Amino acid sequence: MSEQTPLMKVTIDGHTIEVPAGTTILQAARMIGKEVAPPAMCYYGKLENTGGNCRTCMVEVTKGSDADPRPMPKLVASCRTTVMDGMEVGNKSSEKAVTAREGVVEFLLINHPLDCPVCDQAGECKLQDLGYEHGKEETRYEFERRTFVPEDLGPNIQLHMNRCILCYRCVKTADQITGCREHGVMFRGDHAEISTYLGKALDNEFIGNVIDVCPVGALTDKTFRFKNRVWFLKPVDAHRDCPTCSGKAQVWYRGDEVFRVTARKNEWNEVEDWICNTCRFDKKETKDWVIEQPSVISKDSVIRQGHYQANIGTKKPNETFKKVMSGRDPKLLLDIHDVSQVNEPNRDLSQINGPATSKDFKD
Ligand code: SF4
Ligand code: SF4
Ligand code: FES
Repeated sequence: MSEQTPLMKVTIDGHTIEVPAGTTILQAARMIGKEVAPPAMCYYGKLENTGGNCRTCMVEVTKGSDADPRPMPKLVASCRTTVMDGMEVGNKSSEKAVTAREGVVEFLLINHPLDCPVCDQAGECKLQDLGYEHGKEETRYEFERRTFVPEDLGPNIQLHMNRCILCYRCVKTADQITGCREHGVMFRGDHAEISTYLGKALDNEFIGNVIDVCPVGALTDKTFRFKNRVWFLKPVDAHRDCPTCSGKAQVWYRGDEVFRVTARKNEWNEVEDWICNTCRFDKKETKDWVIEQPSVISKDSVIRQGHYQANIGTKKPNETFKKVMSGRDPKLLLDIHDVSQVNEPNRDLSQINGPATSKDFKD
């Protein structure tokens, strides 16, 4: 008969739970619920050996255990620290943890570009959420932001290295689900960057999943890029008979047009089933999919604002141009890339020395 794993009692922000030995503080907090779970930018439950890179999940252990009730001398990364019996932890209730998290967010943002208005991740970006909850109104950073020579990662995936927070999730995903090392973090410290070895394109059949695990807009889908904003789209759960993957995906509609296909995610924004590149990049028509139901969207997501209308996904929402132009069609529509070149290396907003002001946008 197998021995039962002993249970450990842990209290997080005043909520007590019993969890099996070996559970981390972060996992225990998630079992309690969203109100006590620390943010996690690098830990990813579906992958092995993640966490310990970003420090956003730091918490204060005010009591180590019943056996040794001394507090831990420093804040700890909750994704890498296992619970002890009788442990007491402060997350949102700990001033020290909240102040430290503000510092981590400030560090994550010092080199980050002001791309949100043109970034495909906007609306589902964990860094935006973190900045909103813990960020400061102003930057204290006075130096030039880091810039990179653009690198081509192949036909389907776009890398914006200046948005990368070096969480290593994409590297672990490529290592663990594609079965071969596709890319990695080159160099160290403030020179570190994501790169493919020898400029090799990421062409594995499952590599598209790196787009879904990236918490920011550093890796985006070239087949969807700049085509729409996520809050105008309506995601539905759908499946297809796929010989390569489970075929269970989320299909994102505007009107009756499929704009993108992604993997389905759970309440922690982590992929439930990895999908293959064919489902993700090539199946962009309703006839390719069996629609199940409107996807459940977290109530704090901006995507939830685009309410479903009758005949889910098939009724086109009001287009605002005609409305504001008294029924007339616009004579000219410009592609933001032709006009702003905001992501061109020579015009990158991240090259602005210090915070941008209205002067930076004049020309
Ligand atoms: S990744 Fe994109 S949406 Fe997120 S904070 Fe950066 S620029 Fe904004
Ligand atoms: S590209 Fe995205 S997933 Fe990869 S290390 Fe950077 S932030 Fe993380
Ligand atoms: S989530 Fe724990 S260090 Fe990143």
